[in-house]
Amino acid sequence: MELLKQRILKDGQVIGNDILKVDSFLNHQMDVQLFNEMGKEFYRLFAHKKVTKILTIESSGIGIACIAAQYFNVPVVFAKKTEARNLDADTYLAEVYSFTKGKTYNVRVSKKYINSRDVVLIIDDFLANGKAALGLADIAEQAGAEVAGIGIAIEKGFQNGGRLLRERGLEVQSLAIVEGMQDGVITFR
Ligand code: G4P
Ligand code: NA
Ligand code: NA
Repeated sequence: MELLKQRILKDGQVIGNDILKVDSFLNHQMDVQLFNEMGKEFYRLFAHKKVTKILTIESSGIGIACIAAQYFNVPVVFAKKTEARNLDADTYLAEVYSFTKGKTYNVRVSKKYINSRDVVLIIDDFLANGKAALGLADIAEQAGAEVAGIGIAIEKGFQNGGRLLRERGLEVQSLAIVEGMQDGVITFR
């Protein structure tokens, strides 16, 4: 998606060799007009799949998922990372290993909000090693739901998440795929 790529080039900051900071428009301050265009694009890509629910993970996926959901006209469910006392006891649980943080954490979704009649579109802001998206696909599978696909704002094509998910037969659509960030210069696939 040209608009997103141009925004990454304009406002993205490369940290080291592998982190892209997009705090000013994507995952701290959020440009809702840009999200709106991203939502339209996700709808264009997945409209034929008869999506009944969008599944994301807190926190940065939620804003993007909600704007996209207005085009699909379906609810958004987000997986929770913390074990809240008021979260239903009856939950689907997946383990997610974070390479960035070097630890495994659990994500949970109440069994009330996904079922075997659902066709689930997974949406997230970043795809790096793919563990978060895999955890969400795992939860959808536990529910007996169909995974329509995975919509990602920014995929880091030089990390292996995209390959891992596509090898599993999941349809991954990324609005921008960053191929490299050598010496602060961002290139797209
Ligand atoms: P993975 O799910 O693809 O395996 O990714 P990984 O564990 O490596 O990423 C951990 C967190 O870091 C995720 O957010 C992910 O979105 C984010 N992330 C990964 N690469 C980048 C990057 O280059 N730039 C930015 N800005 N974020 C990146 P999270 O910890 O789940 O939290 P949240 O931010 O959604 O709350
Ligand atoms: Na995220
Ligand atoms: Na994030």
